[in-house]
Amino acid sequence: MSTFPKLRMRRLRQTETLRRMVRETHLCVDDLVYPMFVVPGRNVRAEIPSMPGCYHLSVDQLVEECKAVRDLGIPGVLLFGIPETKDALGSQAYAPDGIVQRAVAAIASQVNGPESDPASRIEIITDVCLCEYTNHGHCGPVCGGRVDNDAALELLARAAVSHARAGATMAAPSDMMDGRVAAIRAALDEAGFQDVPIMSYAAKYASAFYGPFRDAADSAPQFGDRRSYQMDPANAREALEEVRLDVEEGADIVMVKPALAYMDIIWRVKERFGRPVAAYNVSGEYAMIKAAAARGWLDEKRVVLEILTGLKRAGADIILTYSARDAAGWL
Ligand code: PBG
Repeated sequence: MSTFPKLRMRRLRQTETLRRMVRETHLCVDDLVYPMFVVPGRNVRAEIPSMPGCYHLSVDQLVEECKAVRDLGIPGVLLFGIPETKDALGSQAYAPDGIVQRAVAAIASQVNGPESDPASRIEIITDVCLCEYTNHGHCGPVCGGRVDNDAALELLARAAVSHARAGATMAAPSDMMDGRVAAIRAALDEAGFQDVPIMSYAAKYASAFYGPFRDAADSAPQFGDRRSYQMDPANAREALEEVRLDVEEGADIVMVKPALAYMDIIWRVKERFGRPVAAYNVSGEYAMIKAAAARGWLDEKRVVLEILTGLKRAGADIILTYSARDAAGWL
């Protein structure tokens, strides 16, 4: 047995060059996706109070921001819409001229247009959900006080198809209704979008870490909570079952969300399934760091890079993070 003093683990930690040589995980800009919030109006660029450094952007401003994202080398954006009006069925989620549909079309033509370099075009990923669009704030229609799973499926499928028609290059369903990946896949295929991938929020937990997002997206449920459709934070076996079902239904990429308190889930999903794994470093995780950094209690740059590297080490191929722009600049 070659142990101390023959073996000294510190030998390979002595210089940055040595550390570089034996480094196991390399975070890079290709790993990142930047989530963004689009709002009605023109020339709107309003900072979200609970998410400093993130903005509500009107379509014209969003386009400029997407150009900056592209120029940083970040391969994709994830779009959330805040509609003009809400109703019981979330009809603005699948309106052909809804806010996300308009944003997608503008990015497709002004950022990814014919004159742009094909190698630097960004993936236009859309969040497919109803909660930002329903007046009750739930992710599906409410029937007799319950969120109706099967009634949600058709609406979600319509939303995904309307996004693809506008030019979205990937659909990201986040609602946690049973059967929605199959419903969306079938609807996309039928409409001729068989090549649009689905990144499913496969293991999405009912988490308090979504708090700042719900302020930003004005999507807090008006009664009850999301625990009848999002997962119980205590469950891991169930997460693997959720992922298995989504893969069987046709998910191309499977997501674990939130990220930090669920690194074991990321790891298990990566080990068990042959699909790319995405981790969503959610709004509450971002807000905690911003708040501590603002007080001088944490070094934001080092903490963010440590977290993102940790998520990659845990098995994430794709990291959705509000820190994407900052991180891309630091890397
Ligand atoms: C919509 C959705 C949510 C998030 C992404 N899509 C909120 C929720 O489920 O309540 C959270 C993102 C974040 O906190 O950063 N269903």
